[in-house]
Amino acid sequence: MSTKLLIHPQTTPLRGIITVPGDKSVSHRAVMLAAIAEGVSVIRRWLPAGDTLATLGAVRALGVEIEIDKKSPTAWDLQIEGRGLHGLQPPDRPLDLRNAGTGIRLLAGLMAGQRFPVTLDGSEQLRKRPMRRIAEPLRLMGARIETTDGRAPLHLTPAPLHAIQYEMPVASAQVKSAVLLAGLYAAGETAVYQPGPARDHTERMLAAMGANVETNGNWITMHSLFTAHRSLQPLNLTVPSDMSSAAFPLVAAAIVPHSQITIENVGMNETRTGILDWLRAMGANFTLTNERVTGGEPVADLTVRFDELHSTAVHGASVVCGIDELPIWAVAASQAAGSSTVRDAAELRVKEVDRIGVLAGELRKLGIQLTEYADGFTVHGPVRLALNSLKGPCGVEVDSHDDHRLGMSLAVAGLVATGDTLVHDAACVADSFPGFVETMQALGANMQWVE
Ligand code: S3P
Repeated sequence: MSTKLLIHPQTTPLRGIITVPGDKSVSHRAVMLAAIAEGVSVIRRWLPAGDTLATLGAVRALGVEIEIDKKSPTAWDLQIEGRGLHGLQPPDRPLDLRNAGTGIRLLAGLMAGQRFPVTLDGSEQLRKRPMRRIAEPLRLMGARIETTDGRAPLHLTPAPLHAIQYEMPVASAQVKSAVLLAGLYAAGETAVYQPGPARDHTERMLAAMGANVETNGNWITMHSLFTAHRSLQPLNLTVPSDMSSAAFPLVAAAIVPHSQITIENVGMNETRTGILDWLRAMGANFTLTNERVTGGEPVADLTVRFDELHSTAVHGASVVCGIDELPIWAVAASQAAGSSTVRDAAELRVKEVDRIGVLAGELRKLGIQLTEYADGFTVHGPVRLALNSLKGPCGVEVDSHDDHRLGMSLAVAGLVATGDTLVHDAACVADSFPGFVETMQALGANMQWVE
C-alpha cells in the first residue's frame, strides 16, 4: 500500500452515518485475558489493527489456539481457547510487539507470572519508549525482569510473585494493568493507587471474568486467583467502537462547515471521553442516542454538527481521559477563536513519538501557531491553514513520523487547509484505525492514497 496520503481542501460538508473499528485498548486486553481463561471466549468486532495483531501473534506464540472469522477487513470475530492461568507454553522466539506500547507493557505483567523465560521486544520506535515504569513495580512483586537500559527488549525469568500496594507516580492504565495482570499470579491482595482516573478496561474485564477487583476512590484492589485456586471465566464480548478512532471523523465534522455525521456504537466509558468534554466546552454540538451497555462498557451513537468553536483550557485529571486525543484536539483548537491550552500532559512526550515537539513541528508546517511547554502546549486560533504553504502542486508536505494518531490528525487538518496537503509515512494509520481513509471518504472527505 502507498504510504502517502493526499488531502484536498474540503469544499463540501461531511455527511453520513459510519462505524469506526473496535476499541484498541479493549482488543489488546480481550486477547490476553481470554488466553488465560478456563474455556472458550467469544470476542466479536475485535480490532485487526497493526498494534492488536502484534498482541494476537504474541498470544498465539504462547500456544493459544485462536479461530478467526474475518467478518470485514476492520472487524474480526475471534474464538479463543483459554489455556487457564498456568497453561501458556514457552515461545520458541522473542515475542515481537511491533509498535504496541499497550501490548508490551501489559504482556510484561502477564509474563511475570509464568513458569518459563520469555523475551519481549518490538520495533525501533517501541525500543525507544520507557519500560522502567512497569519493570519497577513488577520487580517489587518479586518478578525477575531485565530491561535494556530501561527499554525493550525485556527479558523475564520465572520467579514467585507476591502482592504489593503500589502508588503509581503517573496515572497510567498500562502500568496499572501490568501490575494487576501480575497480581493474578501473586499471593495476597494487590492494590494500585492511581493519581487520576486512567482507563479502567482491565478492571471491568477482569470483574466480568469473575476476578475479585474493586475500585475505592483512587485505589484498585484485587485478590489473587492463584492462592484462591480459582480461574478466570471465558469472555463473551462485543468490542465497542474506539472513541480514540471516532475522534478523527468527529473533529473533522466539527470543523468542516455545515457537516453533520453520526458514528454508531462508540464506547462511552467515562475514562475515555475527555475529548467530548473539551469539544463541548469549545461549543461543539453533540447528541448521544441509543445509549446502552454492552459487555460491561457503555456505548452510544454520537451525532456531531459543525459549529463555531471557541478556545478552552484542558488540565488536571481530565487530561488522562483524552490523552491520545490531544493531537486531534490541537487541530480542533486551531479552528477555534482564541488561544487553547493543555497542561499536565507531560506524558505526551513519551507516546509513539514526542507528541508535543513532533506535533508542534508538523502542525507549524500547516500554519498552526503553537507555544510549547514541558507539559503541554497552546494553540493560537483561529487560523486559515496552509497560508504559509510552499508553492507547488502539493501545498504542504508533512510527516506522520510513523505515529498513527499524528498521521490522522494531519489528514484532518488537511481538510481545512487552503491548498493540498501530502502526509508522508501515513500507512501507520492502520496501527489503530484500519480503513481510516475509506471511512473518511464515505463521509465525502477529499483524501486518497497516492503513488
Ligand atoms: C492505553 C493507555 C494509555 C494510552 C494508550 C493505551 C491502554 O497509555 O495512551 O494509547 O490501553 O492501557 P498510558 O498507560 O501510558 O497512559
